[in-house]
Amino acid sequence: MHGLKNCNVRIKIYNKLKTYQIQNTALNLTENVSFCQDNLYSESNINYFNYLGNILSISEKYLEQTFNYDDLKEFYTKIKYIEDISDKFIVVEEFIKQYIHFTKETYQKTYKRSAKKLCEFIQQNDSSIKIIWGDAYNVLKSIDNESVHLMVTSPPYYNARDYSTWVNINEYLKDMRNIIEEAYRVLDNHRVFVFNVGDIFDNDNIYTKSVWGKRRLPLGAYFIKIFEEAGFTFVDDFMWDKGEVQSERNKNGSTPYPFYQYPMNCYEHILIFHKHRLDKTRYPCPVCGTLKVNGNTQSEIGIQSWECKNEKCFVRSKSNRGKRFSLKSIITQAGQIENNKIDHNIIKKWRRDVMKFTPVIKINSKGENTLGHTAPFPEDIPEMAINFFSYPNEIVLDPFAGSFTSAIVANKLGRKGVGIELNKNKFRKAILTNIHKKIGFFADIKEFDF
Ligand SMILES: C[S@@+](CC[C@H](N)C(=O)[O-])C[C@H]1O[C@@H](n2cnc3c(N)ncnc32)[C@H](O)[C@@H]1O
Ligand SMILES: [Zn+2]
Repeated sequence: MHGLKNCNVRIKIYNKLKTYQIQNTALNLTENVSFCQDNLYSESNINYFNYLGNILSISEKYLEQTFNYDDLKEFYTKIKYIEDISDKFIVVEEFIKQYIHFTKETYQKTYKRSAKKLCEFIQQNDSSIKIIWGDAYNVLKSIDNESVHLMVTSPPYYNARDYSTWVNINEYLKDMRNIIEEAYRVLDNHRVFVFNVGDIFDNDNIYTKSVWGKRRLPLGAYFIKIFEEAGFTFVDDFMWDKGEVQSERNKNGSTPYPFYQYPMNCYEHILIFHKHRLDKTRYPCPVCGTLKVNGNTQSEIGIQSWECKNEKCFVRSKSNRGKRFSLKSIITQAGQIENNKIDHNIIKKWRRDVMKFTPVIKINSKGENTLGHTAPFPEDIPEMAINFFSYPNEIVLDPFAGSFTSAIVANKLGRKGVGIELNKNKFRKAILTNIHKKIGFFADIKEFDF
């Protein structure tokens, strides 16, 4: 028991209150005294005569349940600056911000395999585009828990390109599963992974290895199951209509008989997955900032909801129930400020889940690859992902960065664009050229070999 150390503290505070003879009903100082156990909070030197003191006196027993002694001491030091703020609403806002930040840091410390230099590289607070050369699995494995705000990517489509060769589809899916499981850990809670993948026409190399074994492999469907088993919730599937595409499948015209007809596959999936890791950490009421809240049932899979039990809370329902909220609602509602409004044209463009935009044309009239990369995806995809699922200054990571489209768009939209790419020798030149072309000659590019 770290709390009940100095019995005199409480008496001292009471005397102090009497000397000041402060009558402040809004802050309810008498309640403060009765709540104030002789504990760390009493020793933390935080002023009792402001709203932060009020929050802490109501919340102290819960704080002690949530953090250990050393962490709590650190927390009190970190929030001390809030006592200088007079506006109650700003006090609540700052307290919640610091509390969420602190619980996040505490959770991140539970992961012991992160590589310090790599994490520092990713977290650097500048406007550079960050290239990590390495294997997505190894890199992700070395990143802190829940330290990336959004992931957007398009994976290698099994053996569709010469740079990717798996012995069979199962080996491919096994590798992808490992990467997706790590991505789940690294993605911040209640955040989103936007995953663009198309079905392919190929040989699975399991049932037959002959050229006749080619068939449509539903990568989209396979990935949904993998994502769900890794903990993600499947939320949406945009059908990206690519228009008239070149496809080996369009051979049916010459045999106009039954059972010879197969459509040309003209769409790719843009899958939207949410991460909701059930986190039972107590979070402060967004209205009064106190931790006097009770756990409710989970409103959605993986989302713990709470109800404020502070009788003095500024908002109560008609039936006198306290404010109901979750960590997710705190995060999303705090983000509803003018600066975060999404351009209505983008909202309109992505209103339906079937939509058309042109794929990146990479082969010129002479049949040459103009981009130096064989599978770039159009800017439309990261543009939607970043606008819909992140705030300015947040970290956007593409684990299969390819031509770095996601990182480039992130950078343009004021986010921190980071990409992981395996094939440095093959793509470095093309990637640097692409970034310079899209951002400008003076683009700040930082590289990290992992
Ligand atoms: C379909 S492309 C990505 C396309 C990308 N969205 C773009 O716009 O360029 C997949 C990329 O993943 C890379 N890759 C394949 N396996 C990888 C791995 N294990 N780790 C990191 N990158 C990998 C490939 O070299 C390729 O550049
Ligand atoms: Zn409240």
